[in-house]
Amino acid sequence: MQFIDLAAQQKRIRPQLEERIKKVLDHGQYILGPEIHELEEKLAAFVNMPYAISVASGTDALLMPLMVEKIGSGNAVFTSTFTFIATAEVIELLGATPVFVDIDPETFNIDPLKLEEAIQRVISEKKLTPRGIIPVDLFGQPADYKAIQSIADKYGLFVLEDAAQSFGASQNGKKAGALASVAATSFFPAKPLGCYGDGGMIFTDEKDICEQLLSIRVHGQGIDKYTNVRVGINGRMDSMQAAVLLAKMEIFAEEIQLRQEVAARYERLLDGIVKVPKVLEENISAWAQYSVLHPRRERLIGKLREQGIPTAIYYPIPLHRQEAFAHLGYGKNDFPIAERIAGEIFSLPMHPYLLPGEQERICALIESSQ
Ligand SMILES: Cc1ncc(COP(=O)(O)O)c(C=O)c1O
Repeated sequence: MQFIDLAAQQKRIRPQLEERIKKVLDHGQYILGPEIHELEEKLAAFVNMPYAISVASGTDALLMPLMVEKIGSGNAVFTSTFTFIATAEVIELLGATPVFVDIDPETFNIDPLKLEEAIQRVISEKKLTPRGIIPVDLFGQPADYKAIQSIADKYGLFVLEDAAQSFGASQNGKKAGALASVAATSFFPAKPLGCYGDGGMIFTDEKDICEQLLSIRVHGQGIDKYTNVRVGINGRMDSMQAAVLLAKMEIFAEEIQLRQEVAARYERLLDGIVKVPKVLEENISAWAQYSVLHPRRERLIGKLREQGIPTAIYYPIPLHRQEAFAHLGYGKNDFPIAERIAGEIFSLPMHPYLLPGEQERICALIESSQ
C-alpha cells in the first residue's frame, strides 16, 4: 500500500502526460515556454484570481511576495508554529523575525485570538515592527481568513496565504489561492496537485505586485534580462513541469472530489476510535493529508507498519522548538496546543485512488490495536 499513490494516477493519464512532454521536446523552449503561460492562465481561472505567476517551488512562492513587501531586519511576520519549515524560513532568510502563534486544536490552523495577542505584544515591546501574517492552510483546510483579514486591516498588515497544501480547497465558495490578496502554493510531487519535480505558483489580485513578481522571478529584470532594476532570484518554473501539471489539471477537479469520498469513509470508520479531523462548515479541504490524533500513536503506527501500511508524522517538532529558530528564545511551554498535537498526530494513506477495501483494512487494524 502506498501513502500517496502517484503511480496509480500516472497510469490513468500516461498518454496525456507523454503527449504534453513530447510537445516540449519538440518546441525546445524549456524555460518560459508556451506551457508556462497556458498553465498560468488556466490556474488563474481555476482559483478565480486575476494574476498567476508560476515559480520554481512553493518556497520561492512564499519568498518572492515577501521580497515585494521589502520585509527585512526589524520587521515581524506572524505565522503558525505548526507548519513546514519553509513558511518561517523565508521570513528569516530576508532578515526579518518570524513571530510564532499557537494553533486552533480542531483545525490545526493559526488561532486568530492568539494572533492578535501576539501582534499586541510585539507592538508593546517596541522592538519589532509588525508587517504581515502568513496563515497556513494546514493539511488542505483553509485558515480562518475572515478573522485574520480583519486583524490584518486593524493593524495595517499584509496577508500572504500559504496554500502549499490547500490547492483545490475552498472557503465560502472561494478557492484556496484566492483567500488573501497574495497566495503561494506548491506543486511538490506529493501535494494535491503535484508535478514531477519542484514547482509553485503565486496568485494575486494586484497588477503592481504581479509586475514586481515577474521581475523578481528573472533576477530583477527591467525591460529585458540584462537590465536589472532590483535584486531578484532565478525563480522560474520550467516548461516540463508546466506540461505535467497541464496534463494533471484535466482530472484535478475529479480527484478533489474523490479525496472527499476517501476522507468521508475514514471518518465513518474511525470516528470514536481516534480523533478524526474536523473540517469547518464553510470549508472544503483539499485533503493533502488525513491526520488523526491518538495519545498512544507509536503503538498504532507500529502495528500498521507490521502490516505494510505506511504512515507519517506531520509535524513531530513545532517550529519554535527547531534548532534553526533557537535564537528566537521560545520555550517548550509557549505553545501548549501545538505541543500536544505534535505529540499525538499521525497521518494515514490519503490519495484519490485509495480503495474502500484498503481503508477498511487500515481502520480495522487501528481499532484492534488500541
Ligand atoms: C505549508 C508549506 N509551506 C511551504 C512549502 C514549500 O513548498 P516547496 O516544497 O514546493 O518548496 C510546503 C511544502 O513542501 C508546505 O507544506
